[in-house]
Amino acid sequence: MDLKAKMLRDNALEGKTIVVTGGGSGLGKSMTTYFLELGAKVVITSRNLEKLQTTAKELEAQTGGTVLPLQCDVRHYDQVEAMLKASVEAFGTVDVLLNNAAGNFISPTERLSANAFDTIIDIVLKGTKNCTLAFGKHWIDNNETNKTVLNIVTTYAWTGSAYVVPSATAKAGVLAMTRSLAVEWAKYGMRFNAIAPGPFPTKGAWDRLLPGDLKEKFDMAKKVPLGRVGDHQELANLAAYLVSDFSGYINGEVITLDGGEWLKGAGQFNLLEQVPEQMWDMLEMMIRSKKK
Ligand code: HXC
Ligand code: NAP
Repeated sequence: MDLKAKMLRDNALEGKTIVVTGGGSGLGKSMTTYFLELGAKVVITSRNLEKLQTTAKELEAQTGGTVLPLQCDVRHYDQVEAMLKASVEAFGTVDVLLNNAAGNFISPTERLSANAFDTIIDIVLKGTKNCTLAFGKHWIDNNETNKTVLNIVTTYAWTGSAYVVPSATAKAGVLAMTRSLAVEWAKYGMRFNAIAPGPFPTKGAWDRLLPGDLKEKFDMAKKVPLGRVGDHQELANLAAYLVSDFSGYINGEVITLDGGEWLKGAGQFNLLEQVPEQMWDMLEMMIRSKKK
C-alpha cells in the first residue's frame, strides 16, 4: 500500500483560494503542499512571519504554486480581520478557511495557571471562532457562496482526555461550532466539516506531548489497531477532498482518521487482543462447561 499516493485528479482545486491557519509547519504545511499541487492558491498564516516566508518560498519552488505568507495571531480579532483583508486584496476572494492552528502541552490540570488554561482555549477555541466569524460575516455581507470551513479537531473532542484538559475542552467547543454552523449558515452557501486525526508525527505536537523519552515509552503506533501512525499525505488527501467541490453534499460531518485508535481505547473487551491465539481453545472449553 502506498501511503503517499495522491487521491484527487490534477487541478481539482484550481480556482480556489484557501487560507490555512498554522500553515507554516506540521500538518498545516503538508495540507498546504497538496492544495498547491492541486492548483489552489494558498494563504498561510501564523505568529512567526519568518517561518511562513521560508515555507512559502520552499513550497512555491516545490510545486510551482502561489503562496502568500501572512502574520496573524488568531487570538486577536483585529489581526484576523487584517489577514482576511490582505488575502482578499491579493486574490479577490477566499473560498476555504482551514482552522488548523493550535496550542497544546501535557500537564496535570492542577499544575496549570489560569493563564496557561486560557492560552490554549484562546488559540484553539477563540482563534477558530475569530477566523470563522470574520470570514463568515465577510462572505454573508458580500453574498459570496460555495464556501467551506474545515476545522481540525481531535478524537478527544468527544471522549475528553486527561492531561490535555484545556485542549480537549477547546476542541469540543470547535466541534460544537462546526455542527452548529453547518446548519445555521448552510443557507448562505457555506459548508462546515471537521477532521479528527489520530497520531500524525509532527515536531510541534511531539515536542509538547511526548517530550524526552516519552516518545519511546508511549509508542503511539502501539495504540492503533492498524499498528502504525498516520502519514501526512493521508490527512492531506482527506482535507483536499473535504474542501473540494467533490464533497459538496458533506456538511456538519467530523471524519475520524486514526486507524481505529480511539475505539480501541473505548471498547470494553478490546483488551482481549492480548489473549494469545492458543488460549482461545481453553477459554471456549471453560465457557461451554458452565452450561452443564
Ligand atoms: C504548564 C505551561 C507550560 C507547561 C506554558 N505554560 N507551557 N504551564 N506546563 N508545559 C504556561 C505559561 O507558564 C504561561 O502561564 C501560559 O502557559 C502561556 O505560556 P506562554 O509561553 O507565554 O504562551 P505562548 O508563547 O503564547 O505559547 C503558547 C503555547 C506554546 C501553547 C504555550 O506551546 C505554543 O506556542 N504552541 C504552539 C504549537 C503547538 O502547541 N502545537 C501542538 C499542537 S498538537 P503563566 O501563568 O506562567 O503566565 C495538538 C493535538 C494533539 O493540538 C493530539 C495528538 C494526538
Ligand atoms: P504544529 O506544527 O505545532 O502546528 C500548530 C500551528 O499553529 C503552528 O504552525 C503554529 O505556528 C500555529 N499557531 C500556534 N499558535 C498560534 C496562534 N496564536 N495564532 C496563529 N497560529 C498559531 O502541530 P500539528 O501537529 O501540525 O497540529 C496541527 C493541527 O492538527 C492542530 O489543530 C492540532 O490540534 C491537530 N492535531 C494534530 C495531531 C497530531 O498527531 N499531530 C493529532 C490530532 C490533531 P506559529 O508557532 O508560527 O504561530
